[in-house]
Amino acid sequence: MLPEVPSNLVAIVAEELDSTQDQLSEDFLSSLPEHIEALLLVTRHQTAGHGREGRVWFSPDDSALAFSLAVRVKDPRPLGHWPLLIGWAKARTLASWVPFNTLDLKWPNDLLLDGKKVSGSLCSMHQIRGSMWVRMGIGINVGPMKFPSDLDGIATTLAAHTQKSVTRQKVLEALIDSILEDCGELGADDLLRNYAQASSIVQETPISWKENGVEHSGITRGLDADGALLCEEEGKLRPLHVSEISLLRPNSI
Ligand code: BTN
Repeated sequence: MLPEVPSNLVAIVAEELDSTQDQLSEDFLSSLPEHIEALLLVTRHQTAGHGREGRVWFSPDDSALAFSLAVRVKDPRPLGHWPLLIGWAKARTLASWVPFNTLDLKWPNDLLLDGKKVSGSLCSMHQIRGSMWVRMGIGINVGPMKFPSDLDGIATTLAAHTQKSVTRQKVLEALIDSILEDCGELGADDLLRNYAQASSIVQETPISWKENGVEHSGITRGLDADGALLCEEEGKLRPLHVSEISLLRPNSI
């Protein structure tokens, strides 16, 4: 499962790992020679994948794509743009298998397919020996896979929605291309515009979120220039700086 990669990208395939995100540590990145611009770590069997808020990430053998990609940042962006870049790259890539309008981005970077989660991501920034790195951890339910009962109804797979041949290898190759291209070429305005086109949720959607243990709710009103989700709560418009929102639509996550 090794994609064709540019010469300044190191790619490592591990048969089995606990978590690609944990293994792609700052120590690991600091040991890289200066000419390396990106590092991909992918595993066939992720045994202890995790998601946001400490949740377990379900990665069954052979049908879940689990990888982490660290990229040396050449052109700085607002921090809040990185999760959006990942989300947009995932949406435009998976649109090769399913109609674009069946995909939706749940801010900041969950990808939904027919309203169910098909992909989640982690994103963190790291200053290492004078370079800024962005570290992305991406899980995609390529499928086919059977979900445990707590995920049934809220998660789905790409395989369940396409007649085209889909493998982890093909999705990985296409997604790495998209991410590296967007990191290098996609300007801030285009990113925000593309993201907003791919996400019905950033406009006029009732949501809730937690801040310091307190539950809030409001209606989404687009993105601000930093990539924060704008939300109207009790008549006041404010940018959200949280890692997770919930949709207050019937049957949604
Ligand atoms: C979420 O939706 O909460 C984020 C899920 C992120 C899962 C991926 S799988 C590859 C990488 N390794 C991990 O342990 N997590 C991320």
